[in-house]
Amino acid sequence: MSVKIAIDGPSGAGKSTIARSAASELGYLYADTGAIYRSVALYCLENSVDIKDSETVLAALEDIVPTLKYVNSEQRVFVNGEDVTDRIRTPQVSSAASCISAIPRVREFLFRLQRSIADENSVIMDGRDIGTVVLPDADLKIFLTASAEKRAKRRYIQLAESSNCPSYEKVLEDIRRRDENDSTRAVSPLRKAEDAVELDTTDMTLEESVKTVIRMVKAAVKGGEA
Ligand code: DC
Repeated sequence: MSVKIAIDGPSGAGKSTIARSAASELGYLYADTGAIYRSVALYCLENSVDIKDSETVLAALEDIVPTLKYVNSEQRVFVNGEDVTDRIRTPQVSSAASCISAIPRVREFLFRLQRSIADENSVIMDGRDIGTVVLPDADLKIFLTASAEKRAKRRYIQLAESSNCPSYEKVLEDIRRRDENDSTRAVSPLRKAEDAVELDTTDMTLEESVKTVIRMVKAAVKGGEA
């Protein structure tokens, strides 16, 4: 039987880095669902689809076939057969993804793809509504948090390596705006599932966070077998 682990939490809480490392250590697939929302957002930006107009976005969905492939356990995201993985991490795509993910039919459209990955593999899947909507039957649900300032600092350090790095204040403002968007939208807002365990990584190193998640997964899976 496949194991399903859900990790949700706000932007920049370290979900993807922690989930990827833990999955690799445990021999599970790591599924990054934010990348799927980002791929739809990228399509809209590159095809002049007005992301503020939900009807236009819904019409565009008819032309979008997102798929995922795993190459040496690394997730690659494709739109209409084209690998867009390396183009979905810009601030413009982040903000557009936050916008289109508030449209209920976009979420419905992407639900089946996410669910099928978990049905076919043992996975650690991260996102915003994995424990609440996509995998309500997960073996373990973790709600990963950290203070907005700490998350902004981590993201700023990541971005500092790029040529057009925004200021720390701008990064913090973006994080706060996305928190607000993601947690106040009407459909599948970011919230902790009732049966999720909260893990606050504000004062933890990445290594400590990964070790803690691995410990939690092993305990949950073992508990399930007993
Ligand atoms: O995790 P991320 O930053 O790559 O996600 C990009 C956007 O997609 C984020 O603003 C919220 C949205 N998202 C979502 O609504 N539900 C998910 N399961 C994953 C991401």
